[in-house]
Amino acid sequence: MKFGFFDDANREYVITTPETPFPWINYLGNEDFFSLVSNTAGGYSFYKDAKFRRLTRYRYNNVPMDNGGRYFYINDGGTVWSPGWKPVKTPLDKYECRHGMSYTRITGEKNGLEAETLFFVPLKSWCEVQKVKLTNHTNEKKQFKLFSFMEWCLWNAEDDQNNLQRNLNTGEVEIADSTIYHKTEYKERRNHYAFYHVNAPVQGYDTDRESFVGLYNEFSGPKAVLEGRPTNSHAHGWSPIASHYLEIELAPGESKELVFLLGYIENKEEEKWEAKNIINKKPAKAVIDQFDTPAKVNKAFEELRAYWDDLLGNFVLDSGDEKLDRMVNIWNQYQCMVTFNMSRSASFFEVGIGRGMGFRDSNQDLIGFVHQIPERARERIIDIASTQFQDGGAYHQYQPLTKRGNDAIGGNFNDDPLWLILSTTEYIKETGDFSILDEKVPFDNDMSVAKSHFEHLKLSFYHVVNNLGPHGLPLIGRADWNDCLNLNCFSKDPNESFQTTENKSGGTAESLMIAGLFVVYGREYIKLCRQIGIEKEADEAQKHVDNMVEAIKKHGWDGNWYLRAYDFFGNKVGSNENEEGKIFIESQGWCSMAEVGKEEGMVEKALDSVKERLDCEYGIVLNNPAFTKYVVEYGEISTYPAGYKENAGIFCHNNPWIMIGETSLGRGERALEYYKKICPAYLEDISDLHRTEPYVYAQMIAGKDAFKPGEAKNSWLTGTAAWNYYAITRHILGIQPDYDGLRIDPCIPGEWSGFSVKRKFRGTTFNIKIVNKAAVSKGVKKIVVDGQEIEGNIVKVLDGGDHQVIVEMG
Ligand code: BGC
Ligand code: NOJ
Repeated sequence: MKFGFFDDANREYVITTPETPFPWINYLGNEDFFSLVSNTAGGYSFYKDAKFRRLTRYRYNNVPMDNGGRYFYINDGGTVWSPGWKPVKTPLDKYECRHGMSYTRITGEKNGLEAETLFFVPLKSWCEVQKVKLTNHTNEKKQFKLFSFMEWCLWNAEDDQNNLQRNLNTGEVEIADSTIYHKTEYKERRNHYAFYHVNAPVQGYDTDRESFVGLYNEFSGPKAVLEGRPTNSHAHGWSPIASHYLEIELAPGESKELVFLLGYIENKEEEKWEAKNIINKKPAKAVIDQFDTPAKVNKAFEELRAYWDDLLGNFVLDSGDEKLDRMVNIWNQYQCMVTFNMSRSASFFEVGIGRGMGFRDSNQDLIGFVHQIPERARERIIDIASTQFQDGGAYHQYQPLTKRGNDAIGGNFNDDPLWLILSTTEYIKETGDFSILDEKVPFDNDMSVAKSHFEHLKLSFYHVVNNLGPHGLPLIGRADWNDCLNLNCFSKDPNESFQTTENKSGGTAESLMIAGLFVVYGREYIKLCRQIGIEKEADEAQKHVDNMVEAIKKHGWDGNWYLRAYDFFGNKVGSNENEEGKIFIESQGWCSMAEVGKEEGMVEKALDSVKERLDCEYGIVLNNPAFTKYVVEYGEISTYPAGYKENAGIFCHNNPWIMIGETSLGRGERALEYYKKICPAYLEDISDLHRTEPYVYAQMIAGKDAFKPGEAKNSWLTGTAAWNYYAITRHILGIQPDYDGLRIDPCIPGEWSGFSVKRKFRGTTFNIKIVNKAAVSKGVKKIVVDGQEIEGNIVKVLDGGDHQVIVEMG
């Protein structure tokens, strides 16, 4: 069942009923100021950091679902309704929500009055614009009352929820004309405030929640709205809110547009005040001045559209399959940008207080957006590397506001450092900018011990070499990519965290996933060394990679697939000898991508075992058989019920590793089959089962052993976005940036007759046409660039012009 449709021409998903199977959300903002907005206008805003600078309040996991947002209430002759349906939930005569690229437009209509609300964050600004267009479709004059509403968060979203003994006393606001200012703690250690403005005179307002909502009312029926009268309250402590009250009259057929503005301001220490205890409003007024008419707002909106045209113009696929095209050209790239901005911090599943930016997560996310915003990718790489330790290890996370390592989670996730080699080499291949390697980058943010970025990569490589276990395989540390395989830090104490409990001393558990990862990125490191002419280092590194390949073959092969690990006691994990969890996806993915034992048939066997044991209708599960018993020495993994999350869920992030492995065997059909299984646009028709947005990937789809196979959770903030984009564009469609040019090496189903891609690469535009008359899956017979046949499959002309590239497969 569907709950809307794709409007590809406008790059929108159009939701046609507010009662979607789960709130279907969108993100506003591209740089500093961000908002989450659901299809009923729920959500919240923050500046840079969802934990430390939360501007508006939201209630996660509440009843009803999706509680808190930018709400409008209309009282039209006693009929009270909201354009986004919630929170009032009065049945609407018409409803539509259009989620587009960094904007959302929700339209509701009741009794001939239409309210269209457009939400977006203008480029280079610290505010959310809310343009409200009211139209009277009746033949009578309409007089009605409009209330805006949002609730302030007291900046630190975590403290806001739990430090009530203090917080219920601190709230402070100012009201001036049509602007409500939130200035809690401004006189102390903060120099920032927020404001909510409307570009019209108001007939009243409220700033105190209890006065507006009523102590025992709900958001669905605030007292002031029901009574049709604001109280002009001034908040002193308790819960400050912002609500404007406007009396509006519309002649038959008449429309009126209003612009509401939620903004964030920082003042200089010496410019904080305009008078005693009166905040300096000059900067707020300057922002208001930028967006105080519909014409100015429309212009900003057009700029946003143009920004996205430009970003999405870098890779345009024409495959003849509209679902594939809309994912590759629009939604997958869009989701990659959102994961760039958010990492794993704020979605409707991530509450924005627990986790900052992940070291491994952000490095991997980068491969999904580096072609869109290379300069910001560069900055991100340096930010991440700056939290690395001098031995090559890393904090697992850092906070975006401070850019400092987050000590709460610590380090010792031994896969972390290697992902820095991935992000950096992908960045250089995309841009040709080797200068990043010379950048002086601190350790743990300490500039006095800074070294070149290349040294950071070297330390990343040797962090594995220096941390090998009894079989010559990499020590896993607290966990590798699989956060729940806690082979060195398991405990029976219910009050200890699975992941942050200190490692068992002398922990010798080893990971075959890191082993494969090391071979793949070790080779990338070697290739990079050769590019910059340090052959000796390359040769030295090659020895370590060769040793690893041998160690995998010798100690990491189980007969039909790669083992997953050795546990603390030296026992095999992910072996046919085990009762449950005989086979795991991660080591099959990485050792296949590393092509370990390919000649001996290991890769083929491993991937066939994946097909046989892990694949199911909805995707590839993480392990099999699912754990039904609790295996204490494995840590968190077996605590999950069978079929969910890391215990045999379809953990979408790692499915592309298998797709890529399949392409290295040349099995294009199977690679694409796996791609389609978890790709949201192909799942639109089963939205009632799938539940999360049909336009973005979810982290997990319940696996074959679950109670409800096919049901997804945790949409938006997942490495799935970047890895699927990478698998489809680089390995299936086969357009691969490389140091010397653009390599073209598709691996597609034999029955595809071809496809076209427009790819902008280092300022040059390639119009690539792939022709597959020979009906093969892999193999490039001939490449003709502007009528001239070239040698090999790397297109090297990089002169900034437009070039026609015809690729004949065979
Ligand atoms: C989840 C992982 C997640 C981790 C974060 C675990 O409980 O299963 O998917 O990455 O927590 O710390
Ligand atoms: C989600 C985390 O963000 C990611 O870092 C991890 O690799 C996966 N879960 C798998 O556990």
